[in-house]
Amino acid sequence: MAIEVRLLGETDDRSSFQSGDEQLNLFFRRYAGQNQFRHHIGTTYVAVESETIRGFATVTVGHVEIENLPPSLRKKLPDYPLPILRLARLAVDRNAQGKGVGEHLMRTVFSVAIELREKLGCVGVVVDAKRGAENYYSRYGFVKLEVIEGALEERPAPKPMFLSLSAVVQAFGIPRLRKPN
Ligand SMILES: CC(C)(COP(=O)(O)OP(=O)(O)OC[C@H]1O[C@@H](n2cnc3c(N)ncnc32)[C@H](O)[C@@H]1OP(=O)(O)O)[C@@H](O)C(=O)NCCC(=O)NCCS
Repeated sequence: MAIEVRLLGETDDRSSFQSGDEQLNLFFRRYAGQNQFRHHIGTTYVAVESETIRGFATVTVGHVEIENLPPSLRKKLPDYPLPILRLARLAVDRNAQGKGVGEHLMRTVFSVAIELREKLGCVGVVVDAKRGAENYYSRYGFVKLEVIEGALEERPAPKPMFLSLSAVVQAFGIPRLRKPN
């Protein structure tokens, strides 16, 4: 399957996206565009196959308090809020699930995090994992975090999970969005 991951465009048709999770569908159809193009509070990447959107990942910047990080990282880092990339939403269309679309999107998220690290600083990726999705993120090495400021106000509350960028680099090399000039 030839999948291209790119930024959401203003004219992309989001109306028929069906992930099986109504909250995620609603977010994608109604809010992803305005968050990106009007409010500038989050950016959505879409996985496209044959001009059809098969999945999306929404990211934004955030921070994590050092006491919420896994103990092994706490010793190495200073005691003030640390910059992270937040993976706020991830979903794949029901018809395309289990075919690697999620992995394409995760790799893009890691590339964005590496770029953020180079340009502004970033210690890792935090995901707000919905109930039932925790094991999907564990596969990439994400571990549970204590509740952190700015977590989504949904019920049941999503569980924040963290993956350090050094672990990303170890597992995937340094994924890049594009080659440096
Ligand atoms: C979770 C989701 C994003 C995964 O995307 P995908 O394109 O289906 O996943 P991939 O093809 O990259 O990976 C498939 C693998 O992940 C596993 N997987 C998929 N969903 C999983 C879950 N919820 N928990 C654990 N493993 C999961 C599959 O069993 C498969 O394993 P295998 O490679 O050993 O066969 C997608 O199934 C989805 O949108 N689900 C509904 C919405 C959701 O739960 N979103 C996450 C919210 S935080």
